[in-house]
Amino acid sequence: MNVFFRLTAVSLVSLLPLHASAGEVEVLHWWTSGGEKRAVDTLQQLIEKQGHTWKDFAVAGGGGEAAMTVLKTRAVSGNPPSAAQIKGPDIQEWGELGLLGNLDEVADEQGWDRLLPPQVVDVMKYQDNYVAVPVNVHRVNWLWINPEVFAKAGATPPNTLDELFAAADKLREAGYIAIAHGGQPWQDATVFESLALSILGPQEYHKAFVDLDSKVLSGPGMVQAFSALAKLRGYIDADAAGRDWNGATGLLIDGKAGMQIMGDWAKSEWTAAGKVAGKDYQCVPFPGTQGDFTFNIDSLAMFLLSKGENRRAQEDLARTVMGSEFQEIFNKNKGSIPVRLDQDMSSFDACAQRSMADFREAAGNDGLQPSLAHGMAASSYVQGAVFDVVTNFFNDPKADPERAARQLAAAIAAVQ
Ligand code: BGC
Repeated sequence: MNVFFRLTAVSLVSLLPLHASAGEVEVLHWWTSGGEKRAVDTLQQLIEKQGHTWKDFAVAGGGGEAAMTVLKTRAVSGNPPSAAQIKGPDIQEWGELGLLGNLDEVADEQGWDRLLPPQVVDVMKYQDNYVAVPVNVHRVNWLWINPEVFAKAGATPPNTLDELFAAADKLREAGYIAIAHGGQPWQDATVFESLALSILGPQEYHKAFVDLDSKVLSGPGMVQAFSALAKLRGYIDADAAGRDWNGATGLLIDGKAGMQIMGDWAKSEWTAAGKVAGKDYQCVPFPGTQGDFTFNIDSLAMFLLSKGENRRAQEDLARTVMGSEFQEIFNKNKGSIPVRLDQDMSSFDACAQRSMADFREAAGNDGLQPSLAHGMAASSYVQGAVFDVVTNFFNDPKADPERAARQLAAAIAAVQ
């Protein structure tokens, strides 16, 4: 064998995957903020450790609208990725298209039926087969507070909507941005659904956003929720338009703003900045929603694959995501709580512990409700209709709350 041939043979061997069945996983997601990236990197590392190749398919844009558009284009051209961040009722829509694979073998082996809350199992299955693996449980109805800013302004953490506006007044008088917000439709809807939950309570919230009951959608509670949204607009700074959610979190971290209304992925930014829950920042349930829990479960749906080794890599991806090691390190970085009911929470921070306690409690009554703004409650068409009405209202200082509530009911009826 000449030298050239030997060298080539050696380098080819070193290029071979670590084990014979190593394959590639291409994963579409929208975890692109500093904190989110740290979280998803942990998954990439665990996959690569098993010899597989990770092909990152990150599409920036909070809330995932842009990612879903790109995914549809790829799927239409017959070339979907192995896995994609698809959530809630959308999983059923993709299942109906016949594009999703079957994860039952991995699910049986790991006992997913036993490890997961039944509400989660239902969402991950299409026609009784697992087609997606759940990653985490995010809570949406949180209020984030910078305690130092609060102390300087003489404000106290609010428990009611009146107290929220009183704290906002103090913060504004002291020269701070009272409420850090980014002007994007999904962020407007995130704030709106927490206001609606606070005013309507969980049962009426359910009638509105899950049952799509037009009486509740256009009723007095919803009118009040729009009025509260209009009031809240007065506490947001003039540069909010187009700002990303993590930019808004940054305003709190930098001590420029006092509060942010956002799901607990906001915590990923605090964690990435080396800040400690309960000390550098506080999480309180959104005023008037104590004990309630609007959930947002991230999941990776798996597409049908033809290549055996990529199929095995895909199964390893699912197996890894449900594994305790991933559930712990990912969720600590992501701000969410583990989806496994048997996970040891002792090393998680104060916000995660509170989230888990409230999740368990809310699951025992009507307090556990799906987030509309994050695609858990209704189809993407309904979600889009709500985004349009809420954002148009939010951007028009003269808009009338009663008219907005009527428009909400009409827009939802039109897409059903
Ligand atoms: C997703 C989170 C993500 C957030 C911001 C939500 O819809 O569920 O995982 O961190 O959007 O992009």
